Amino acid sequence: MLLQSASSLLHEHYISVISAIILLVLVSQVYYQLFVNPLGKYPGPKLAATSRLPQLYHTLKGDVVEWVNGLHTTHGDVVRVAPDELSYATGEAWKGIYGHASAGKQVTEKDLRFYGSSFNGAPDIIRGNGSDHARFRRNFSHAFSDRALREQQPLICKYADTLIDKLHRTIEEDPEAKINMVSMLNLTTFDIIGDLTFGDSLNLLAGTGNLAWVSAVFISMKTNTVSRLARYFPWTTPIVRMLIPNELKQQSIAHYKASQESVDKRIDANHTMYKPDIWGIVMNQKESLRLSRAEMHANSQIFMVAGTETTATALSGLLYRLLMTPEKMSIIVEEVRGAFDKGSDIEIRALEHMPYLNACIEEGLRIYPPVPVGLPRIAPKDGLLVCGEHIPGKTVLSVHHWATYRNAQNFRLPNHFIPERWISDEFATDNKAAFQPFSFGPRNCLGKNLAYHEMRLILAKLLYSFELSLLPDSIGWEKQKTFLLWEKKDLMVQLKARK
Ligand code: HEM
Repeated sequence: MLLQSASSLLHEHYISVISAIILLVLVSQVYYQLFVNPLGKYPGPKLAATSRLPQLYHTLKGDVVEWVNGLHTTHGDVVRVAPDELSYATGEAWKGIYGHASAGKQVTEKDLRFYGSSFNGAPDIIRGNGSDHARFRRNFSHAFSDRALREQQPLICKYADTLIDKLHRTIEEDPEAKINMVSMLNLTTFDIIGDLTFGDSLNLLAGTGNLAWVSAVFISMKTNTVSRLARYFPWTTPIVRMLIPNELKQQSIAHYKASQESVDKRIDANHTMYKPDIWGIVMNQKESLRLSRAEMHANSQIFMVAGTETTATALSGLLYRLLMTPEKMSIIVEEVRGAFDKGSDIEIRALEHMPYLNACIEEGLRIYPPVPVGLPRIAPKDGLLVCGEHIPGKTVLSVHHWATYRNAQNFRLPNHFIPERWISDEFATDNKAAFQPFSFGPRNCLGKNLAYHEMRLILAKLLYSFELSLLPDSIGWEKQKTFLLWEKKDLMVQLKARK
């Protein structure tokens, strides 16, 4: 009895000691983060300064864009969003964080806790750092050059025309048809990038392809976002595994396998044909292809993710804004219809010079950037100069796209869709350099020119051929969650063929 109560006393004693130690560690951690860490001078919520949990909570909830934007509205252009992380909402930060190396300035590296790893563990162009990235960029830049784009124009046109034909057939069958334009635009951009990546059509618009291609990309974005928790806190790995349903994991594996097989088929067929698709161009370079097969698989996956959802998102968002502002819609329609005698005359070079069309695309990307979050970089160990201030080494830094584009100090009337700001002197005070929806510096978007060509062509063909009206259910479409990219709702419209 005596022995039992002595042991329970000892037990209680141990618990109190352990609790006191935990409390001490927590208090000293809080004290360090708030008063000793040099980032302590930056404003932001105290909880975020002492723990990454608030940021992860909002990331998993899907409202991290609003959260960070709210912090910038309250605290200003630089905010501490996690113990080791600063978010910027000012254009001046692009150069410091994402810019090229120069005398006395090293480039930053990507924070892989945010990005994760590729499905097969091989490096790819998005995640690769240093020499891997340089090697990929050198190899792939040929496939995204101006010359390549000229060769690829018929392929892009073919799918834009298939979209228009499909829409015509749909309304011929049912003139009152309610059409989900998010889905239509997704099918189109997936068909284009699928053909550019695998050298063969995915046949999604034709209706005979496997629609799992489209869902797999968003699933991979969402699961990547959830598994970020385990990358910041490795001990949560078993919980994260449980959070991702088995069905989703199976779908992802099936998707990766299909994608791997398509790449192998394309690469192995190269000796019998030349096509101006990505692998056709890359393998045709004199410089021998310095990519392993696993790297080819991993990079193909990147093209399918980076090149599809993004462009379809930009087009869906712009279409929504135009449908919500009929006075802007009528200006762009007049410009497009006035420039060509028939739909088949619409071509990439002429579209480049159409001011209102291009202004609408810029404004669409500003008000609804397909990548709305900040993409984190790690400061080199000796630190970095950002906006004239020395930032300590290893600090995680990003420019937050959404907060920067909705910042009234950068853009007048930031919450209004005003294409005129890109072409009229009335908005000369806007800080246009703050607008970098394709990112900035040596790791900016390799597919930027391709994306602009696609957006111009698809939008122009659509507006040339149809009168579009938004269905009431889709008013408020822009209220969406984000999991790195937007979780887009259906965008329901009715179409009438142009008389
Ligand atoms: C409106 C459409 C698009 C937007 C807004 C967009 C945006 C971006 C952004 C913000 C990045 C930087 C990513 C990072 O820092 O981690 C990026 C990188 C990249 N994008 Fe795009 N993108 C678009 C379309 C495309 C297309 C059509 C392709 C073609 C396959 C593409 C291929 C790439 C590649 C390969 C990279 C990695 C570049 C590198 O790290 O060197 N993107 N894109």
